[in-house]
Amino acid sequence: MALDEYASNAEIIGRDDVNDLEAILSVTNTDVDEAIHTVTDNAEAIFTWDYEKGARQGLNKLYEKAKHAQWNGETDLPWDTDVDLEKNAALQRMQFAEMERDVSGTPLEKFSEQDFIKLSIEMDSWTLSQFMHGEQGALICTAKIVETVPWIDAKYYAATQVMDEARHVEVFAKYLDDKLSGHYPINAHLRLLLDDIVNDSRWDMTYLGMQIMVEGLALAAFGFMHQLTTEPLLKQLLRYVMSDEARHVAFGVISLKEYYAELTDAELKERQEFAFEAAVRMRDRFLQQEVWDRMGLNVKEVLPLVMHSPQRQLFQTMLFSKIVPNCKKLGLLDANGGWLRQKFTELGVIGFEDNPDTGEEYAMFQLAEGELAS
Ligand SMILES: [Fe+2]
Ligand SMILES: [Fe+2]
Repeated sequence: MALDEYASNAEIIGRDDVNDLEAILSVTNTDVDEAIHTVTDNAEAIFTWDYEKGARQGLNKLYEKAKHAQWNGETDLPWDTDVDLEKNAALQRMQFAEMERDVSGTPLEKFSEQDFIKLSIEMDSWTLSQFMHGEQGALICTAKIVETVPWIDAKYYAATQVMDEARHVEVFAKYLDDKLSGHYPINAHLRLLLDDIVNDSRWDMTYLGMQIMVEGLALAAFGFMHQLTTEPLLKQLLRYVMSDEARHVAFGVISLKEYYAELTDAELKERQEFAFEAAVRMRDRFLQQEVWDRMGLNVKEVLPLVMHSPQRQLFQTMLFSKIVPNCKKLGLLDANGGWLRQKFTELGVIGFEDNPDTGEEYAMFQLAEGELAS
């Protein structure tokens, strides 16, 4: 049977041109003052009567590792660290060195050193806020996987991930509250993506959206921030979170590798389209439109400048360093004549396809013996 045509960009992401700034910025949150946000979950809860532990060795191994890798966000992190925001911001400030050379005639022209430092603090606060919201997304998605996945080894493992994610939300929230000055609301693009993932009725789509795409990106982004920051508390916090996160992405890769081997071309096509949608939504959020608003700048005037910064482009691309090899391992890049390969090529991220995939790489992120404080 011939495969139906792939959906167009307009059908998948609501615009033809992935780089259409007007369209990206027109997506904003309207309910930022609401205390809760409700999403309908269309999936069925599945019981299994097959209790044979270890039938899936890869998952069983992850589960056993996870039991030993639990840390305590309250007692393992040095919360008494005095965090000097301005000093850290001055370092982040290097990020803008490139832009600065060329700011004449732009809204940044009148920016003083102090303004740039404030901008850096806001960007950190925005970034950590989105990490926190994404972590809550992971908490909810993993609880959903416990319910919907048909394999007992996967239910066991997902249960440990629920605990991991609770801890991640907890530590990011605490850091934002105690060390920064509160948090930003969830970015509209990230929210759309989380809504889609929770909404979907197919259990593997939760994995694909969360473990492969959102957590794949998070693992790369945490790694980048971990490298960049000299703030000891944040560095430690990110180190711990990454050690869990690598396991989570491996959980996605190992589970879906088995499942996707049995899907039809038509079913794989839907997964390819979903992966592309998720990739674009995550890329859109990194424009940080809310930060520019808060700094009193016209987003449309400042963004072209930001987008052309070489460091920025490097950072944006690097965010896909885990996603692309993992999609390749799952067969999504090359299924059906390589549609997703083409899309990732257009996004400029295909260069990562031969990076190590996280199904193998996760062990490298494990905490060493004695690395925890308690
Ligand atoms: Fe997490
Ligand atoms: Fe995670």
